Amino acid sequence: MYVIALIAEFLTSLLLVVALAIRFGRKWTVGTLIALKVALAALMLTYGFEFAIRPLRDLALLAVALAFPQRRKLLIVGAAAGFVLDLLLPQDIPQWTVIGLFAVIGLLVALPIRRWVAPVALVVLAALGVGVWIPASATPTTMNMGMPAMPGMAMRSVTQLTGPPTTGPVKKFTITARQAGDRYSFNPSVIRLQQGDVLDATLVNQIPDASVTIHWHGLDVPNAYDGVAGITQNAVEPGGSFEYRFQVNQVGTFWYHSHEDTKDEVTRGLFGLLVVQPRTGPVADVDQALMAHTWGDRLSFGDNAGVQVKQVEPGSSVRVRVVNTDSDLRTVQVTGSPWRLAAVDGNDLHEPGTLTGQTVAIGGGGRADIQLTMPDHPVRVSLVGESSPAYVLSPDGKSTVDASAPGPEVDLMHYGTPAPVSLGSDYNRDYTVDLDQGIGASGFKWTMNGGVFPDAPMLMVSEGDTVRITYRNLSLGEHPMHLHGHEVLVLSRDGVASAGSPVWMDTVSVQPGETVAVAFKADNPGIWMDHCHNLGHAKIGMVTHLAYTDVTTPFVVGDGNNPE
Ligand code: C2O
Ligand code: CU
Repeated sequence: MYVIALIAEFLTSLLLVVALAIRFGRKWTVGTLIALKVALAALMLTYGFEFAIRPLRDLALLAVALAFPQRRKLLIVGAAAGFVLDLLLPQDIPQWTVIGLFAVIGLLVALPIRRWVAPVALVVLAALGVGVWIPASATPTTMNMGMPAMPGMAMRSVTQLTGPPTTGPVKKFTITARQAGDRYSFNPSVIRLQQGDVLDATLVNQIPDASVTIHWHGLDVPNAYDGVAGITQNAVEPGGSFEYRFQVNQVGTFWYHSHEDTKDEVTRGLFGLLVVQPRTGPVADVDQALMAHTWGDRLSFGDNAGVQVKQVEPGSSVRVRVVNTDSDLRTVQVTGSPWRLAAVDGNDLHEPGTLTGQTVAIGGGGRADIQLTMPDHPVRVSLVGESSPAYVLSPDGKSTVDASAPGPEVDLMHYGTPAPVSLGSDYNRDYTVDLDQGIGASGFKWTMNGGVFPDAPMLMVSEGDTVRITYRNLSLGEHPMHLHGHEVLVLSRDGVASAGSPVWMDTVSVQPGETVAVAFKADNPGIWMDHCHNLGHAKIGMVTHLAYTDVTTPFVVGDGNNPE
């Protein structure tokens, strides 16, 4: 609905120009336009005031047009300017620019000025606007994302943030990045650990002409090991290596991937699965992870683009861990057995109820753990809207079952039962992050609070803060927002407060027109990316940082480090 309304809003802005230009004299044109705009404004207001700025602006313009029909040319220019701004700018940041522009046009229309004043004023205004906009939307060649030293404040470098002394058993790995044809891979591409283990992983880059890093998606590692090129380390050049070392205190389904030239490298295969089991042992008799990834144009679960059938004894407990390594939202369905959504993003849900037809949506980068007890007939785990791939659990290892019609999505705001959380509700930092789109000097961009990486406004915190972030999606696209280094508690979606199990996530999907509030404890100092995990969106702007006020970095973005 929102997407349709937003497109209608663009079209009616254009219609306004046309109507003013050729048909303003006819009553029905004005009447129809006013009716359309009022309806759109009313609809957009249900999403929030920020969403309704454009139709309200156009209504104001129509009002001026009705009051001063003799200054039509000027109004046409105003409407055209509005339409161009709709295309160019995200709608929240430039509202003062837009309001200012229309105030000037309003004055030019209403005041008895000489004929030549209006066109001259408009040209000067436009020139000023372009002069400000071009430099503002051009990307600098290199940029340091750390904080400038504050007088009297002890600063820490990301390289010092290596975490507390480790105590658990050390698991040593060498992870080699390789290339075969067009594809890249990490070897090994599966790491299984137990809670409390110390992961000591040395990345060795054997790709001849690409630099790489490893980011541990969903693990709240010490900042020095977060693996973001240009922020926490330099990208590892061909032939080079880098050692990551941290204790793993979380349990669940995670993954790791390069965070240099991320869109290209992850798409081509630079990722792996990381599963952490409790010290007490496995959580199910059968524990299967399925990474949904599109290779070229083939979607697969693991390495399998077709149907894989696994023989499972009836009565066994089964955990299927689905990881979405792609950019688009995927919806998982289970046919043939009741099931429970045991965990999202590696975080157990509290007393998850039994689901039958329902589905679960996973944003890019997110994970969902499905738990079930094997019945005496086949069970199919598949992706809604895709005929393949599928994973079939079968008592005899052969027979399968077709996917049934998918039911509604499970509503995580009302799933499971509440449990105490230690976060409190005293938010001493409260940020709103608007997700939007616009056209910059170098083409189409996805924006955060009106800016694009590396210029998007940063979110500043101090260690110990309790932070709330409200994401408002004013754009046409779905955005899976991923915060590094922290788990966030989902507080509400579109004003509906979480009333079921606490939902802790690291990757939160925000639909067009949706407002999602999350909160977290700033307990892991560093400079942390907060970005859209639709990697194509991140590549063209949708990246900002959560920065602790006392942390600096010796690394720079640009000059061999291109984290997005
Ligand atoms: Cu999975 Cu910043 O990424
Ligand atoms: Cu996005």
